[in-house]
Amino acid sequence: MTRRKLAAGNWKMNGLKAALAEAKTLAAEHPAPNCDVLLCPPATLVAAMAAALEGTAVKTGGQDCHAAASGAHTGDVSAEMLADAGAAAVIVGHSERRADHGEDDAAVAAKAMAAWRAGLVAVICVGETEAQRDAGETLTVIGDQIAGSIPPGATAENTVVAYEPVWAIGAGRTPTLPQIAEVHDFMRDELVKKMAEAAEGVRLLYGGSVKPGNAAEIFAVSNVDGGLVGGASLKAADFGGIVAAAGA
Ligand code: 13P
Repeated sequence: MTRRKLAAGNWKMNGLKAALAEAKTLAAEHPAPNCDVLLCPPATLVAAMAAALEGTAVKTGGQDCHAAASGAHTGDVSAEMLADAGAAAVIVGHSERRADHGEDDAAVAAKAMAAWRAGLVAVICVGETEAQRDAGETLTVIGDQIAGSIPPGATAENTVVAYEPVWAIGAGRTPTLPQIAEVHDFMRDELVKKMAEAAEGVRLLYGGSVKPGNAAEIFAVSNVDGGLVGGASLKAADFGGIVAAAGA
């Protein structure tokens, strides 16, 4: 089965209004008719980015959402608010959220359901720490995260799963290609157990130190359907190279 690749950028807590120029440059100068492109800026820029990218093929997403649609949750943003601002997707369960905010699998699953409720695609993140990999626990950890973070109701249309080994994020190092293949093949098998044939359409992204120079080889790995990119998504020239690899 051929799945259309997705190049997704996660700006994390980076970007002021001036950075919207990078998004516009990406859309204008790096067209990618053969893949999907998503940029997830900080919440403060979602509405402005969605407006700036209107009429282009580049979609806008959030980086997190609350599980509730509204209410007394100071500082939080709901999936409905992201959708209202023009977002098409939202990242949930990023390891930085899991670590910085103590989000467990149940919380991530609730956020994924909130995303679907608001009509957003949920980009659900999983990944092992270096200590877990060294202890030989990688597949157990990923299996548990898939079991706990992806709620019933996931489809190829409403869900993307991102494998982000925590030790590769912002580290300038990546797993070997066979290590990536091992995890992605395992994730596909786990999703098939959960969702039957629908699992074949779910895009599985690799994330962690994806750069223009390594994107093509990573995207050619079995069951890798694109990337979730942090640092290299901030500049149109860099992310454009990654988008080109996804659309090749
Ligand atoms: P880097 O691409 O900066 O390693 O970040 C990966 C990531 O966490 C994307 O969500």
